[in-house]
Amino acid sequence: MNSSRMAGSLLVRHLTHHFSPSSTTTATTFLNGAATRSSVVWMRFANTSASVAQEETVAKKEATTAPPSTKDITSYWGIPPTKLVKEDGTEWKWSCFKPWDAYKADVTIDLTKHHTPTTMLDKTAYWIVKSLRLPTDIFFQRRYGCRAMMLETVAAVPGMVGGMLLHLRSLRRFEQSGGWIRALLEEAENERMHLMTFMEVAKPHWYERALVMVVQGVFFNAYFLGYLISPKFAHRMTGYLEEEAIHSYTEFLKDLEDGKMENVPAPAIAIDYWRLPANATLKDVVTVVRADEAHHRDVNHFASDIHHKGMELSQTPAPLHYH
Ligand SMILES: [Fe+2]
Ligand SMILES: [Fe+2]
Repeated sequence: MNSSRMAGSLLVRHLTHHFSPSSTTTATTFLNGAATRSSVVWMRFANTSASVAQEETVAKKEATTAPPSTKDITSYWGIPPTKLVKEDGTEWKWSCFKPWDAYKADVTIDLTKHHTPTTMLDKTAYWIVKSLRLPTDIFFQRRYGCRAMMLETVAAVPGMVGGMLLHLRSLRRFEQSGGWIRALLEEAENERMHLMTFMEVAKPHWYERALVMVVQGVFFNAYFLGYLISPKFAHRMTGYLEEEAIHSYTEFLKDLEDGKMENVPAPAIAIDYWRLPANATLKDVVTVVRADEAHHRDVNHFASDIHHKGMELSQTPAPLHYH
């Protein structure tokens, strides 16, 4: 452990030598865009020779005196975790995502866009999705909070499966992905953040947790096989699933507007992830989530269209950071 600390300390000095010849940066502020990223990276690696010396002193001191404690596992090899603060000066409290992952959703996106199925493949994808809607409606009725939470456990699967398979393909074929691996993994992560948000609003019962396990087991394998056989079909189906998601969230919003559901304050994680105002409500959250689904719809129909033209995804630049 102690030698690890020393190694970590030396790593900091090594990085400092390369990245920070003279900086005296002492704090990181949470600003949007590229400037933020560079400032955060700067914060990560910037240091004064004085602070390196101080860190080394501390490391040496601990090496001789400090008994093992729980603090030993709060740093990475002797490198203390970076402290991030928000614009209002309060500490960034999430470790599951960072300020540079947060964004403002584009709620002006056209929610009514629909890909009209013309080929047999598209029609099959469309009717499979439509037929899945009926049992979902019967099971959840208008319990949209619960419905959203449960469906997001499924929605986060396609992007991960597609991204993983494209990753393996890239390795196998010694070729670049055109950004599609990252684009699909971004989608998976975004969907998972929807789940992290809705589970703050609706708590799953034990039988719902059990259902999620069964559905995930079936859906993951089915989608995996489906993507291997026909990524064109898989992306089209996801595009239609996203169209259904937009419809569900529109119904959710109607119930909130009609007072059928309480418009509770937005969860803190949602406020930070979508950069919502502090007084945001569940309605604001559903609005930005619905906008996300519309973006996923576009990405997946676009991906399917590329395959439809007989091309590979890697031949067309992926819509990265498309929110
Ligand atoms: Fe979602
Ligand atoms: Fe989605």
